[in-house]
Amino acid sequence: MKGRFDRAFRLVTGLTLIIAAQANAPAQDEPPPAKTLAPGKGVELTTARCVLCHDATHITRTKLSRGEWEFNIKNMIERGAPIAPAEIAPILEYLAAYYNREAAPPPPAAATTTAEGDPAAKLLNANACLACHQTDKRVVGPSFREVAAKYGANSSAATTLAAKIKQGGSGVWGPVPMPPNAGLSDADLQQLASWVLRQK
Ligand code: HEC
Ligand code: HEC
Repeated sequence: MKGRFDRAFRLVTGLTLIIAAQANAPAQDEPPPAKTLAPGKGVELTTARCVLCHDATHITRTKLSRGEWEFNIKNMIERGAPIAPAEIAPILEYLAAYYNREAAPPPPAAATTTAEGDPAAKLLNANACLACHQTDKRVVGPSFREVAAKYGANSSAATTLAAKIKQGGSGVWGPVPMPPNAGLSDADLQQLASWVLRQK
């Protein structure tokens, strides 16, 4: 038993040295950082403001104290993050709750009851929608808010938008095409379309 322990200990020490030497290379045995932010109150705003210049792993692999997150957000704003003064507090609350090295995250049950849009936020993240869309600013494609405003009163809007997200295309908002998302299930497409329509 002791020999096995020593071997394991040496292995861990060795790995630590390798990791230290390679700075950012992830250890092979460790699970990779999550590609989307943990569901919970504030996740949509944080995703919309923070997953623009870099992917969500910059956040999911990081655990900071509340004060350090506050500093990080200021730092990101200095780097150009489009965060309004009133949005700092909810983003800080979210990060300090879910990525705090001094406190455990709230249990998932509490999270799902407070954030009903989470499955859609996950889909938006996983399918790179946010690379071209934001909720209230035009990027490559229209803002989700202007899409919701345009189709809001139309009862078949969710079906129309689900089909458009699946097939892609151009001409409604301008000449730039949206690429197709043929791999998404009908349920996911419906979820995305109805989430977009709620962003009024
Ligand atoms: C305008 C672009 C931009 C936005 C928006 C942005 N960041 Fe960053 N972020 C950067 C740059 C540039 C770096 C440093 C270079 C790098 O690590 O890729 C960085 C690095 C980080 C790091 C260090 C990650 C690491 O492991 O090295 C964290 C944590 C981080 N950002 C969190 C956030 C959070 C939280 C938000 C939202 C409040 C945010 N970022 C929004 C540009 C941005
Ligand atoms: C490479 C950039 C890009 C990506 C990625 C992208 N879109 Fe788009 N999206 C666009 C463009 C450009 C348009 C405008 C197309 C047009 O004018 O017909 C658009 C239009 C839309 C519309 C409005 C459709 C209409 O006919 O009015 C919705 C809804 C939408 N996108 C949702 C999504 C969702 C959800 C995803 C992720 C699954 C996504 N987009 C990924 C660029 C993109």
